[in-house]
Amino acid sequence: MRVSIVGAGYVGITTGVALAYVGHEVTCLDSDERKVALLRRGVFPIYEPHLEALAALAHSRLRYTSDPNEAMSNAEVIFIAVGTPSQADGNPDLSFLRSAAMSVGDHLGDGYTVVVNKSTVPIGCGNWVESLVREAFEARNGQRPKGLFSVASNPEFLREGSALHDSLYPDRIVIGADDARALERLYALYKPVIEQTFPAPIFLPRPESLGAVPLITTDLASAELTKYASNAFLSLKISFINEIAQLAEKVGADITQIGKAIGMDARIGTRFLQAGIGWGGSCFGKDTSALIATASEYGLTMPIVSAAREVNYRQRERVIDKLLAELKILKGRAVGLLGLAFKPHTDDLRDAPALDIARRLIDRGAKVRAHDPVALDRARQDYSGLPICYTESLETLAAEADALVLVTDWPEYRNLPWSALAKLMRTPLVVDGRNFLERDVLERAGFRYLGMGR
Ligand SMILES: NC(=O)c1ccc[n+]([C@@H]2O[C@H](COP(=O)([O-])OP(=O)(O)OC[C@H]3O[C@@H](n4cnc5c(N)ncnc54)[C@H](O)[C@@H]3O)[C@@H](O)[C@H]2O)c1
Repeated sequence: MRVSIVGAGYVGITTGVALAYVGHEVTCLDSDERKVALLRRGVFPIYEPHLEALAALAHSRLRYTSDPNEAMSNAEVIFIAVGTPSQADGNPDLSFLRSAAMSVGDHLGDGYTVVVNKSTVPIGCGNWVESLVREAFEARNGQRPKGLFSVASNPEFLREGSALHDSLYPDRIVIGADDARALERLYALYKPVIEQTFPAPIFLPRPESLGAVPLITTDLASAELTKYASNAFLSLKISFINEIAQLAEKVGADITQIGKAIGMDARIGTRFLQAGIGWGGSCFGKDTSALIATASEYGLTMPIVSAAREVNYRQRERVIDKLLAELKILKGRAVGLLGLAFKPHTDDLRDAPALDIARRLIDRGAKVRAHDPVALDRARQDYSGLPICYTESLETLAAEADALVLVTDWPEYRNLPWSALAKLMRTPLVVDGRNFLERDVLERAGFRYLGMGR
């Protein structure tokens, strides 16, 4: 099937590569010409494990362009995967979605096309996109696009860091559409994924337990709300364990044992019950605030979701509290951050706790250094205004430092040369913001170890 993807960001590129791998002809369109030029040279502007390898296997079916006509006039399915970042009032900025939808209307071809909203958008955006496409088509062609296109919603659940795995082996696929023809076409598009008929790439083996992937079809509004509800639920699960972690710390309990024990109840489940400095990234913060903003349009409040946000952002300050309690004074202290990306296996720095913690430390007069296995280039490019010493060297990070803070649980941080690092530091103190390091190992290496809720 001929597929066009508008917006070649984290979602657009990974979706495009996965769909090309399972057999579709995919054109990724982006308005950022610099990004398209890189992609055409085989350079990916984002870090995502296995992206180069999977793209190489799908190479002959993948194209990149910044020309909407080239991308869309012949497409059978057009995905919109542009950003919907938060605005100050909590509502998402829909300007990229608006211009993408108008561009689709401007470049619709002669054949029936399904326009699919993959961007996370507030409830009702399916109808809005439909009207924008229709109006742009009419303005250009002087006639109504009768039966020429349908709009569907296909919320994306991939996780950065395992985006290709999640695209090839999703837990479920949700498609919202009010039109049987659109559903039929999207079923055909996803058939290889639903039935798992494609050969598994050697570097991304198919999970043994995976059978057919469930397809859930809904109306447009239900699909749109499903995405927000899903992210809100995951967010509050993390905030719940972080709230209990605060009490655990006071009473001398260990939150890692508690999380494990309550998670073994199958009704609860172990995932997203790891206490730490909380969530970050491009989705949870933005989507929970959009959910609250949407609810308020209908005269509703979302106290549970609001509390999850409050607890989450308080966690970042708790790192500062711990450092203050140990070091007493932060002015002039040197603090090294282990990790900048909001989670391991990505270079995404949107709403990254590390940057927030760095700002809070800088505001209190501390000197901040930061290390990350993949996100340093992006940090230097996007956050050059922050007075942070970005370094590839762990020795530079630790030299004469008063504390290290583990912010991102990159696997390589588990086995650092701790004894050597401790010797370089002024005060061998580590705050393990993810409860990821082994306390015994750190203490044997000479560190004072502080976790979160233990
Ligand atoms: N990143 C994730 O993990 C994730 C997961 C699920 C859902 N989502 C949702 O998917 C959407 C995209 O997220 P992302 O992280 O990929 O964003 P992103 O910022 O990485 O990528 C968006 C891309 O769209 C391009 N763009 C903007 N307007 C355009 C236009 N009119 N025409 C062509 N290209 C245009 C931008 O240049 C950019 O490259 C968001 O709504 C997000 O909430 C993201």
